[in-house]
Amino acid sequence: MPNEPRRAPDVVLAVDGARHQLDALDAHTTLLDCLRDRLHLTGAKKGCGHGQCGACTVLVDGARVLSCLTLAVMQEGRQITTVAGLAAAGGAICADPDALHPMQAAFIAHDAFQCGYCTPGQIVSAVAVLDEARRGDASYVTADLRPSGRPVPLSDDEIRERMSGNLCRCGAYANIVAAIREVDAASGVAGGGT
Ligand code: FES
Ligand code: FES
Repeated sequence: MPNEPRRAPDVVLAVDGARHQLDALDAHTTLLDCLRDRLHLTGAKKGCGHGQCGACTVLVDGARVLSCLTLAVMQEGRQITTVAGLAAAGGAICADPDALHPMQAAFIAHDAFQCGYCTPGQIVSAVAVLDEARRGDASYVTADLRPSGRPVPLSDDEIRERMSGNLCRCGAYANIVAAIREVDAASGVAGGGT
C-alpha cells in the first residue's frame, strides 16, 4: 500500500549466547548502537564511530567486525560475541560467571590491559587474529601471499600488523604483543615466528 507508513522491522539477535527480541528496530541502527543503547550490553565501546579505532570490534560468526560500521538488522541469524561472551564462546566452563578466555587471562598476566575504551576491542581482535593466522590468511607483512592452507607463524610483525586496526592512543602496545604470543604458543598451532 503506497501510503501506509513503513514499520520498523522486528529483529532477533543472538548475543553472547542469549537471544534478544528487538521490536521496531530502526533499520539504520548500527550493531554497536543496538548492543549498547537497546540491549545495554556495553562490552563493545564507541571510540570513533567511523571504523578507525577498533574499540567496537565484536565477532560475528567468529569473524571480527567493526560493529560501528554494520547494521544490526543485517546480523539476524548470526552469532554475535562481545568481549563479555568470549569465555563461553571459547569453550570455558561457564558455571563460573567470572571465567576468562585465555586471551583475557594473558592480558592480565602480561599487564596488557589498557584503558576501558580500547582494551575490549583489542582482546576481541586478538582472539580473531589467532583464528585468521591458523586458517592461513595472509596479512600485509606475510612473505607468501598465496593461500597455502597452512597456519601463518605469528611473528611480532605479524601480530602488530594484524592488530593495527585497534588503536591505543597512548601507544602502549608492547605487552599486548606478549600476551598474544603466549596464547598462540599455548595453542601450539601457528606459533614459531620471531
Ligand atoms: S568505534 Fe568502531 S572503529 Fe571506532
Ligand atoms: S590505553 Fe586505551 S587508548 Fe591508550
